[in-house]
Amino acid sequence: MKVTVVGAGAVGASCAEYIAIKDFASEVILLDIKENFAEGKAMDLMQTASLNGFDTKISGCTNDYSRTSNSDIAVITSGIPRKPGMTREELIGINAGIVKTVSEQIIKFSPNVILIIVSNPMDTMTYLAHKSTGLPKNRIIGMGGALDSARFKYRLAEAVGCPMSDIDGMVIGGHSDTGMLPLTRLATRNSVRVSEFLSNERLDKVLEDTKVGGATLTGMLGTSAWYAPGAAVSSLVHSIACNQKKMFTCSTLLSGEYGLNDLCIGVPVILGKNGIESIVEIELNESELTKLRASADGVVKTNLLLNNI
Ligand code: LAC
Repeated sequence: MKVTVVGAGAVGASCAEYIAIKDFASEVILLDIKENFAEGKAMDLMQTASLNGFDTKISGCTNDYSRTSNSDIAVITSGIPRKPGMTREELIGINAGIVKTVSEQIIKFSPNVILIIVSNPMDTMTYLAHKSTGLPKNRIIGMGGALDSARFKYRLAEAVGCPMSDIDGMVIGGHSDTGMLPLTRLATRNSVRVSEFLSNERLDKVLEDTKVGGATLTGMLGTSAWYAPGAAVSSLVHSIACNQKKMFTCSTLLSGEYGLNDLCIGVPVILGKNGIESIVEIELNESELTKLRASADGVVKTNLLLNNI
């Protein structure tokens, strides 16, 4: 199993680290445009191998896509992260060109690859990857919902005051401050609805804190977060690499599911050796469907900006 991670910034390096620590891939290639940067990150990470007990071989390269040849999975983190006060959508002007070029280069050397898109605005970048590569839809996956769901579980465990492993929950919709739809109605603590433990007001606060999860960290860190994004990617890569068939929320091209068409947005999917094995259509109530439609409208609006780039 060969995995390429494009972009050796904080998110890319975290992806490589968590993938290596889980020790299921034989090889991770880290690629960056900055001279010697990916090589340095790879060397630093390899010097943790004996300490952290992994055999995955991580190597770095400067913009040499031939080194990514025959990758099974490629993760695209390239582009600029947001700064405090910015929305993910504001990054489109710079990131669209980068994601398009990177996806095309990856496909050239790895025609059978499964692409995982992390760069923001993530749903639109996932859509752009479809448009620019023409890969089958099961082989292009946007990471956002897996991260947003992890942040939702963090906020739920904090509010309930219980261990994280007691909590289950998911966030669907667009990976944006306004588009995320944490499904509080379905979230549970060991199969018991979280509404048994939390007041409506507290649940609303969990919901709002989840939606601005990325923005809160950007304000605190001065740049966008990396540990949870890296861990989210590594879980997706693991499920595909080991054909685990786990369910995650991922951005995927919809063709009628949830009544939506021709956009990529976060919905539950099963991830296995073929990438997206299936889209899971759960029953949503009217209020949730209305919010999902509004979220989709927001994503489509951002997608339309691609025409001006
Ligand atoms: C975040 C970025 C990765 O939400 O979109 O932290």
